[in-house]
Amino acid sequence: MGLEYRSVDVDDRVAHFVQRDADADASMTILFVHGFPLNQTLWQEQLKGLPSHCRLLAPDLPGFGRSQPMETATQDGDGRPVWTMTALADWLDRFLDALDIETPIETPIVFCGLSMGGYIGWEFARRHRQRLGHLVACHTRAAADSDVVRRARSVAATQVLETGAEPIAEAMLPKLFGVPLASVDAEQIELIQSSILKTPAESIAAGHLGMGQRADASGWLETIDVPTLFVAGRHDGITPADEMESDCQRMPNASFVCLEQAGHLGPLQDPTAFNQLLVDWLQENANA
Ligand code: MLT
Repeated sequence: MGLEYRSVDVDDRVAHFVQRDADADASMTILFVHGFPLNQTLWQEQLKGLPSHCRLLAPDLPGFGRSQPMETATQDGDGRPVWTMTALADWLDRFLDALDIETPIETPIVFCGLSMGGYIGWEFARRHRQRLGHLVACHTRAAADSDVVRRARSVAATQVLETGAEPIAEAMLPKLFGVPLASVDAEQIELIQSSILKTPAESIAAGHLGMGQRADASGWLETIDVPTLFVAGRHDGITPADEMESDCQRMPNASFVCLEQAGHLGPLQDPTAFNQLLVDWLQENANA
């Protein structure tokens, strides 16, 4: 099955995505939702490596990768656009609606989100439960930002509009990989660095502010009853494995795995282990 690079209109704006169709006996659709400030290329090893009975969809969220920004409904106190996690969850619902018209989507779907993609996942579970069959929460947390982190995001949003994405790329790269960059494959560094550098400063600012305003999902974790898999990375300093394990324990139907070789980007850093554990877990939970 080949990869198709496609686009579709969502709210009259162009959304780009990669799709890999399934073979005739398709059993599920996996929706991959990237982290911040990245794009669908984060999932390249899953799009290439997962078995052919799954339809795979990896959109560029609006304003990231090649997708046009979404219309902003929310602004902060200084009049700056804020892309909330609820707006992004609702956008994904409309993205799926737009695709469903052409080729019906196997529902319910598997929602697989990394970090910011996971924050969106909590909202998707709350607002679009009927679409959700399984949830995969990679390198993400339920808690909202502390006041300190929220303030730092506000400062970063101002700075990126003044200086562009370069300082953010420089600061984030070591944190995203979580291991010495000298030990990381140069192609992986190039992929992540260029993803950040290609993200418009306005999107980085609006995304930061949106994450800063996100709700604390801890309170509704216990209501998410779909099978859920937490994937952490032993070297992840952004979302420590211990915190993810304790989020996992609050959910009625969740399991936890820690990738020993990974930082914050397990699907890219250890794709063989990630793909295998995802396949095994989906098989075990196929009829859940
Ligand atoms: C991400 O990887 O999506 C971000 O690091 C999340 C965050 O800034 O909280």
